[in-house]
Amino acid sequence: MENKPILKCTNLTKSFRIRKSIIEILKGVDLEVYPGELIVIKGRSGEGKSVLQWLLSGIDAPDSGEILIDGIPYNKLSSEEIANVRRQKIGLVFQNFNLIPSWTALENVESALLNSNLSAVEKREKAITILENMDLGHRLDNLPLELSVGQQQRVALARALINRPSLIIADEPTGNVDDETGNEMLNILLSYVRENNSAMVVTTHGHFTGIDLADKLYLLKDGLLVPQTKGQPEVTAAG
Ligand SMILES: Nc1ncnc2c1ncn2[C@@H]1O[C@H](COP(=O)(O)OP(=O)(O)O)[C@@H](O)[C@H]1O
Ligand SMILES: [Mg+2]
Repeated sequence: MENKPILKCTNLTKSFRIRKSIIEILKGVDLEVYPGELIVIKGRSGEGKSVLQWLLSGIDAPDSGEILIDGIPYNKLSSEEIANVRRQKIGLVFQNFNLIPSWTALENVESALLNSNLSAVEKREKAITILENMDLGHRLDNLPLELSVGQQQRVALARALINRPSLIIADEPTGNVDDETGNEMLNILLSYVRENNSAMVVTTHGHFTGIDLADKLYLLKDGLLVPQTKGQPEVTAAG
């Protein structure tokens, strides 16, 4: 394992004001993620898993604390620079895939190459290649709704992986799919991570088949990340 973390957060806090009250969601989260590591964060619905993933991916900013991505602090970057860092280094996987409904499979994947230096032809070829590798060569021109859930999910994975991210941030990636589809997704993600020595941070409300493979397992509870030993009882509430 290299000793330089791809992601390091210190003392992250985040609150939301809802009408007259302030709710503290994160109360001092520390996390270090090294190349090659699979980090799994369990937590009940509403504990702040998505809020934390948005902070880690630079989509939202913490109230206090610092996040370094590959040694670069997000808070020293403009939003445009953060978007560039995210495109170059991070692959995002969402529970609902977040595909653009009016774009074809190919266009959804190509969209991840928007700011790359490749020519239009090279972008197209690259997107076609990764879709072919995901067994979607015959579905390039289909809209998301014309694809099965498993196929949609592979389009989302192709989009997340096409820039060869060194960090994958996956927020309840298997939360909305059946076990077989979830396992297939997990296999694609894990083989990518292992082959590229990438890191992956996955959140789950408990039903995640890859939990035993985690290098580090945490429970997000009451605004803090509590290290867990594998094999402890699952979180029971639905996510
Ligand atoms: N933009 C927001 N404004 C107000 N409250 C929010 C906002 N985003 C999240 N929250 C609140 O933060 C809490 C944690 O949300 P979330 O991270 O989505 O939970 P989880 O992903 O663990 O189910 C919830 O109570 C939610 O209502
Ligand atoms: Mg969530």
